[in-house]
Amino acid sequence: MKTIKDIDVKNKTILVRVDYNVPLKDGKVENDLRIRASLPTINYLLEHGAKKIILISHLGRPEGKIVPEFTLDPAVKALQKLLPNQIIGFYSLPEKDQKITVPPEVKIAILENLRFDPGEEENSKDFIGNIINSVEAEIYVQDGFAVIHRAHASTDAVKNFLPVYAGLLLEKEAQNLELVTKNPEKPVLLIIGGAKVDDKQPLIDKFLTKTDNIFVGGKIAADGYKSTHKKIFIAKDFDENEKGDKLDIGPISTGELANLIIDAKTIIWNGLLGYAEDPAYATSSTITAELIGEHQGAETIICGGDTTGFVENLMKDHKNLHYSLVSTGGGAALEFLIGKKLPGLEAIKK
Ligand code: 3PG
Repeated sequence: MKTIKDIDVKNKTILVRVDYNVPLKDGKVENDLRIRASLPTINYLLEHGAKKIILISHLGRPEGKIVPEFTLDPAVKALQKLLPNQIIGFYSLPEKDQKITVPPEVKIAILENLRFDPGEEENSKDFIGNIINSVEAEIYVQDGFAVIHRAHASTDAVKNFLPVYAGLLLEKEAQNLELVTKNPEKPVLLIIGGAKVDDKQPLIDKFLTKTDNIFVGGKIAADGYKSTHKKIFIAKDFDENEKGDKLDIGPISTGELANLIIDAKTIIWNGLLGYAEDPAYATSSTITAELIGEHQGAETIICGGDTTGFVENLMKDHKNLHYSLVSTGGGAALEFLIGKKLPGLEAIKK
């Protein structure tokens, strides 16, 4: 995979696909992980003398229409906060053959939500070709790891116009996920939680031959997930509310998981183990996040939106927690782990 480190970016206009599909609350970015994660690439390009960095992203699913609640404006403001010495420009998507002129004092610009135009999800060459021409992009960088499982104009069709190079986030995500899928240090532990068994079963199936242990908690276990496979441990006791809803895994299962974590050399965690939005049912997820984050010498991967959000919050108050990778990808990380072909990765120059 060719990355931005393989090319000379000096004085070049660079179009960078990021994934700023971030959670919003009251018009503000609620979790800026994906925006912070794009900084290494932006800073690298600045430090190596890029003329202009034009960022493109989607946000939400506006279905090809301009929907004000999905404007990227909050993401622009969040990036501006992270880069106080830069003036960040913000531009509408170009009309056909329209040129976007970014003034000399603006080095970083963001274009409005790609999904405001149906061309993005239709994987339209005209749509992405027009964007490239409008900003006179010379190099294309794919750094939107979280969206590489989509065959869209900015992940796939773009390869027809410019060679695509990986950004530093995409490189880091791909390297870490490849390590745990191809050559993991043993024992390998996969921890599965969350609610959607249909999403998680392929991961369990794929990892049965690769892992030493798989622990299943969360709503999946509470709903009665069953397996007789000797590698699979399913949570068996639960904390319940007064109505008898099983909202967290209980102390016996948490203890069993703790022992598996302590022994493991590679840990992949996807999905919260209880209804952790409510602190009363966040105990097992908190203990798990702490044990993994304090684990010395293990490769540790956290993936899935809820799990990474939870871990990120915990890290704010617990500076001693460290993970090899807190993945920015939800669906993309899962599809990578189960070995699916990812259009955004396929498009990157080999
Ligand atoms: C994500 O959040 O998983 C990515 O940004 C992809 O978004 P999508 O599921 O709307 O394509």
